[in-house]
Amino acid sequence: RRIVVIGAPIDVGTSEPGALMGPAALRTAGLIRSLRDLGHDVVDAGDVAPDLAPEARGLTAVAAWTRDLAGAVEAALGAGGLPLVMGGDHSLSLGSVEGAMRHCAAAGRPLFVLWLDAHADFNTPETSPSGNIHGMPLAALCGEPGFSGLFEDAARASLDPARVHLFGLRSIDAGERALVRARALGVTDMRDIDEFGVVAPLRRILERVAEAGGHLHVSFDIDFLDPAIAPGVGTTVPGGATFREAHLIMEMLHDSGLVRSLDVVELNPFLDERGRSARVLVELVASLFGRRILDRPTPPIEAV
Ligand code: ARG
Ligand code: MN
Ligand code: MN
Ligand code: MN
Repeated sequence: RRIVVIGAPIDVGTSEPGALMGPAALRTAGLIRSLRDLGHDVVDAGDVAPDLAPEARGLTAVAAWTRDLAGAVEAALGAGGLPLVMGGDHSLSLGSVEGAMRHCAAAGRPLFVLWLDAHADFNTPETSPSGNIHGMPLAALCGEPGFSGLFEDAARASLDPARVHLFGLRSIDAGERALVRARALGVTDMRDIDEFGVVAPLRRILERVAEAGGHLHVSFDIDFLDPAIAPGVGTTVPGGATFREAHLIMEMLHDSGLVRSLDVVELNPFLDERGRSARVLVELVASLFGRRILDRPTPPIEAV
């Protein structure tokens, strides 16, 4: 399988500078090499660099990234590749998911989004307490108001919120909580994970995607992980996923064969401790792409 690695050194979506060093840190930590060692055909497409005035900020800047990233992701998918977009702050998913949406629309295949994140990222400019766009990409993709000019095609179909699943949620603002409820997103929050573990909820999601013959886009925000194992992120929230939970999720995603596009976002090397968080991410991504302990695939659901 061909993996197309696309760097997205964007940090205009956050008030904490440093995420623009994420792609370089992931390359340094050996992301490309580990995927090649697994036998994949890996193309490093380099970093996307939108033509932006240096003083461009806010939605204007994010719109340029969105346009270029959507094009890169759509092209990679169109050529039969699996795009892996490495950030960069989470506003980059406006582009990656938009690219996947275009590809899926042309292929007549439903798009599902699995959002591994401490946050819902479902604020609008109206509900956001911080004004940071990395807390808004899902709301914009799902067609909430307040984002005019963000997407090239204003009349585009929006992402179906019923096919978005938030996983690992443990920090949500009042306004976005109301929206997440009203739009009926799928949610597995940390309370669910504490009570039921990661396996049962994830299996249910994967079964649904498989039954629909869907394309699964995974958006992995490093703050999904506990800050004790991944401190290199600007928006740490206590009580995150352990290494073993995250690792199992990656193995299950691999075994499902359903993942067609991936984001790895919010790594902030400036806040990291001697590359720890970047290394953890490389380990986890390798597991998503097939590294395993023994030759033991996920047992069928009936067997459990
Ligand atoms: N909910 C907060 C906000 O909207 C935090 C968002 C954090 N998002 C992220 N991608 N790390 O400002
Ligand atoms: Mn987050
Ligand atoms: Mn996020
Ligand atoms: Mn593994």
